[in-house]
Amino acid sequence: MRVQVAIVGGGPAGHLLGQLLYKAGIDAVVLEQRSQDYVLGRIRAGVLEQGTADLLDEVGVGARLHREGLVHGGVALGFGGAHHRIDLHKLTGKHVTVYGQTEVTKDLMEARAAAGLTTIYEAEHVTLHDFDTPQPKVRYTKNGATHEVLCDFIAGCDGYHGVSRASVPADALRTYEKVYPFGWLGVLSETPPVSEELIYANHERGFALCSMRSHTRSRYYVQCSLDDKVENWSDAAFWDELRRRLAPEVAETLVTGPSIEKSIAPLRSFVAEPMRFGRLFLAGDAAHIVPPTGAKGLNLAVSDVRYLSRAFAEFYGGSEAGINNYSDTCLRRVWKAVRFSWWFTSLMHKFPDDTGFGPKIQAAELDYLIHSEAGSTALAENYVGLPY
Ligand code: APR
Ligand code: PHB
Repeated sequence: MRVQVAIVGGGPAGHLLGQLLYKAGIDAVVLEQRSQDYVLGRIRAGVLEQGTADLLDEVGVGARLHREGLVHGGVALGFGGAHHRIDLHKLTGKHVTVYGQTEVTKDLMEARAAAGLTTIYEAEHVTLHDFDTPQPKVRYTKNGATHEVLCDFIAGCDGYHGVSRASVPADALRTYEKVYPFGWLGVLSETPPVSEELIYANHERGFALCSMRSHTRSRYYVQCSLDDKVENWSDAAFWDELRRRLAPEVAETLVTGPSIEKSIAPLRSFVAEPMRFGRLFLAGDAAHIVPPTGAKGLNLAVSDVRYLSRAFAEFYGGSEAGINNYSDTCLRRVWKAVRFSWWFTSLMHKFPDDTGFGPKIQAAELDYLIHSEAGSTALAENYVGLPY
C-alpha cells in the first residue's frame, strides 16, 4: 500500500487527523491495534473546548454533538462547605460542551466509513521504519500476514503506550514527568447529574468531581490512594464518600444508582520533546499526558492534529515551514495546558504527606480566585481553552 500519511492509532487524535487530511485532499490510512468495539468501549473524559467543537464542525462531524452535547457557561468550585460558580461565559465570552470523548471517536469513525476511507483494525505488531529518510514505511500483521505501507509521513497517534514514541532513539528524546501521589476512582451511573454544571470540590477528605454525559447519565470521581483497588469500593461506599465531599445542600440532592462502570486511574503529567523526528510526527497522548483535572487531554490531542494537518497541507502546497515548526508550535500550547492542569490539580487535591501548610495555601488561593476577577478570569480562560 502507498499513501501520503500513515496514521498509527485510531483514537480521537488518529481519527480526527484522518478526517482533516481527507478534507485537505491528502490520502491516509489509519492502523489501529484494537478492534473498533474495543476502542468505543473505553470511557474517557468529556469536556470539549469551544475551539475543539468548532473544528469538529469544520470537518463535518458536529451534528450529533450539537444535538446531544450539553453547552455549559460555568463550572462550580466546592470548598469550605459551599459551592462557588465561575461564570465562564461572562468572563471569557466562551463556553464548553460536555460530550463524551467516546462519542467524538464514534462520530469520526462513522464519517470515515461513510467517506469510504481505510482503517485497519486489529493491526498487530506495528513497526515504524526509515522515518529518518524521505521514504518511511510502516509494517503490520493482520490475520497472520505481514503488510507494508509506504508513505511520505508517519503520524504517531497511538497514545502513551504506543509504538511510535518508543521507536525514536532514546538519545533523540527528552521526557519530563510528574507522577501525583493519588488516583481518581470514577463511577458512571444511569442517574440524573446532581448539578446542571460540573462541580470540582476540594475537601479535607480529598478531591471530588461531579460530571455527566447527559441529563440522565452521570460521571463522578473521588480522589483515592494510589494503592486502592476498585474491589474495595462498593457502590454504597462510593456514594457515601462522594456525598461527604460535597456541600450538604448539594449532597442531599444526589441521586444514586448502580454503577455501570467503575475504575481507578493514576494521575500524571508527561511531555516528550521534540514531537517530530524526521518524517515521524507525534500527536496527542503519544507525546504528552495531563492529569484529568483541567479536562485538557482530548483538547490537546485536537490542537496537535489541527497543526499537523495544516503542516502537511502546506508541505504538499510547496512549503516545509509548517512541518519544521510543528514541534515548537505544539509544545508552546502543550506546556500551557500542562501548567494549567498541574496548577488546578495542586489546588484541588489532598496531598498525603502534607503537614497542614498545603490546605491553608489552597484555601487562601480559592478565596482569592472566587473574589478576584483577575483570578477567576485566569481560571476561566484556561478552562475554556487558550486562543490558538
Ligand atoms: N499500533 C497501533 N495502534 C496502537 C498501538 C500500536 N502499537 N498502540 C496503541 N494504539 C492505539 C490504541 O489502541 C488507541 O486506540 O492508539 C490509540 C491511541 O488512542 P488514545 O490513547 O485515545 O490517544 P489519543 O488519540 O492521543 O487521544 C488523546 O485520549 O487518553 C485520552 O486524555 C486523553 O483525551 C485524551 C485522548
Ligand atoms: C468527565 O466527565 O469524565 C470529566 C470531566 C471533567 C474533567 C475530567 C473528567 O476535568
